[in-house]
Amino acid sequence: MLGRLNHVGLATPSIAHARDRYARLFGEAAVGAPFDLPERGVKVCFVDAPNTQLELIEPLGDASPIAGFLARNPAGGQHHLCFEVADLDAAMADAQAFGMQALGVPRLGAHGTRIVFLHPRETGGILIELMEAPDDGH
Ligand code: CO
Repeated sequence: MLGRLNHVGLATPSIAHARDRYARLFGEAAVGAPFDLPERGVKVCFVDAPNTQLELIEPLGDASPIAGFLARNPAGGQHHLCFEVADLDAAMADAQAFGMQALGVPRLGAHGTRIVFLHPRETGGILIELMEAPDDGH
C-alpha cells in the first residue's frame, strides 16, 4: 500500500536557523530556498538528503496548523513522515479499512500533488502524510 519515504517533516521555530544547520550538514547545494504557503499557514524549505527529503516547516500566521506542535515542542522536532502512494483514493480506502482515519479531505501539498494526513491516534502516535506520486514523485 505505501511506497517509499518521500520526506520527513520537521517543525522549526526558525526556518532560517534550521536551513543554516542543514546546509552545514548536507552542503549548501542540498538546501532549497524557503517559500510561503499562505493557504496552508506554513513556510517550507526542502533539504535533499541522499535517500529522501527533509521538509522544514515554520508557522506562518496565528492560525498555523503547526502552532500547537511548536507550543508543545518549542525547539521544534519531527512532525510527520510522508510516504508515496500511486493512488491516493485507493490508499485512503485501504487505510480506512484498517481503522485509520484521514484528517480532512485530500488537498494539494507542498510538492504540488494530492496529499492527506492520517490521524496519529491510529498510527502509533506518528502523523503520516500520504502523497500521490503516480510517476515516481522525484
Ligand atoms: Co509533508
